Amino acid sequence: EYFSPKDLPLKGKKVVVTAGPTRERIDPVRFLTNFSSGKMGYAMAEAAAVLGAETVLISGPVCIDAPPNVSLISVESAKDMYEAVLEEFDTASIVIKTAAVADYKPKDVHAQKMKKQPGEASIVIERTTDILAELGQRKKSQLLIGFAAETNDVIHYAKGKLEKKNADYIIANDVTEAGSGFGTETNSVTLVGKNDVEMQFPHLHKKELALQLLQTIMKLEKDETK
Ligand code: CTP
Ligand code: CA
Repeated sequence: EYFSPKDLPLKGKKVVVTAGPTRERIDPVRFLTNFSSGKMGYAMAEAAAVLGAETVLISGPVCIDAPPNVSLISVESAKDMYEAVLEEFDTASIVIKTAAVADYKPKDVHAQKMKKQPGEASIVIERTTDILAELGQRKKSQLLIGFAAETNDVIHYAKGKLEKKNADYIIANDVTEAGSGFGTETNSVTLVGKNDVEMQFPHLHKKELALQLLQTIMKLEKDETK
């Protein structure tokens, strides 16, 4: 595909994308995680690069290759991801938090493999840092784009996250819908943003959807500064 310079709305900008799940270790052989495949985040990074951005992809453990023209930083835990994002934040124009960051991690990481015992057992878990909310507190001129995976009241919860995390846009995703969400090739989302933006996108391949989302957001931003 060929884009002329006027179609490269992200030229000269650094875009940081996070993708995939995080892994929270329990012991040397076990961890807590989620079903994120990384496909949507990798598609967002690919789209950012295609639109001309210097693109940094900070990814949890996934099984897909980095897109062309993207610098990949591989991380494991929510804490690793937080540190990697902070490192890039000051020089970023746009941060896109596609990653399905674990909300909890085991309170203690056992140095040795835990041995089974008779009867019930439990692990104590504690909250991880909300990376997007932290960035929302620290942001200067950066544009902050989050995702929201929901199973119900999608728009309502997405708007809540937009406000609570001080994000500029939230891309809301009903993960119970067929062909949408974790592991699928396609997705259908609603873009929720400041100034009461609420736009539903058609059911599309994740790569095409990512391009349309970024182009739409850049257009909304351009209109706003007019
Ligand atoms: N997020 C983050 N750090 C976390 C948890 C979430 O940066 N520790 C980001 C995600 O990358 C996403 C957005 O916050 O861009 C929303 O994530 P989501 O899991 O949908 O929302 P939560 O705020 O974690 O709320 P809940 O899971 O309870 O719905
Ligand atoms: Ca969450």
